[in-house]
Amino acid sequence: MNVKRFRICVFASGRGSNLQAIIDGVEEGRLNCEIVFVMSNNSSSGALEIARKKNIPAYHLSEKVFHKNNFEESLIDLLEKHKPDLIVLAGYMKLVPISVIRRFENRIINIHPALLPKFGGKGMYGMNVHNAVFQAGEKVSGVTIHIVNENYDEGKIIYQEKIDISDCKSPEEIAEKVLKLEHKVYPEVIQKIIEGKIKLN
Ligand code: GRF
Repeated sequence: MNVKRFRICVFASGRGSNLQAIIDGVEEGRLNCEIVFVMSNNSSSGALEIARKKNIPAYHLSEKVFHKNNFEESLIDLLEKHKPDLIVLAGYMKLVPISVIRRFENRIINIHPALLPKFGGKGMYGMNVHNAVFQAGEKVSGVTIHIVNENYDEGKIIYQEKIDISDCKSPEEIAEKVLKLEHKVYPEVIQKIIEGKIKLN
């Protein structure tokens, strides 16, 4: 009996190292799911390159290319076509349309490179986060995986893991340590969601 494999899609804007970590998890048997498509708002994103190399359907959708409603309609068409069980944001820098958030209530997750609710919210992405953590003199940082709701970084936290950064001499060193932790944690948490060990609603 062929059990329907859990389906995820990934939205990414940048180099795609979290996407790569998820693909590695699938290929190494640590993560039992199918990546049904990758979408990026950035036509030159590393994430689209990675997807293409792995023959994963890769789509560039951007509000710039369409005026707003075409973008939203195109995204909904993709979701209806590929029918993911879970939408995984991995460094996706655009807002997810409210219509998609409502259709995928409690089925969109995001990874944030700090211990929310601290160091989150508007403008807190990428190096801005690690600069703020460094400026604050924090000895510990970490990753947060949360549900994406209409308030974005304020969705229910489903997992957090801390890491000691007391030896870090720069925000770049913090970023490097936290990114490695992201690559370990994201595939693990997605697998726990698949196994029902982490509940999303
Ligand atoms: C990661 O630091 C993640 O926490 C944040 O955006 C970055 C994505 O990096 N949301 P990558 O594109 O997966 O390398």
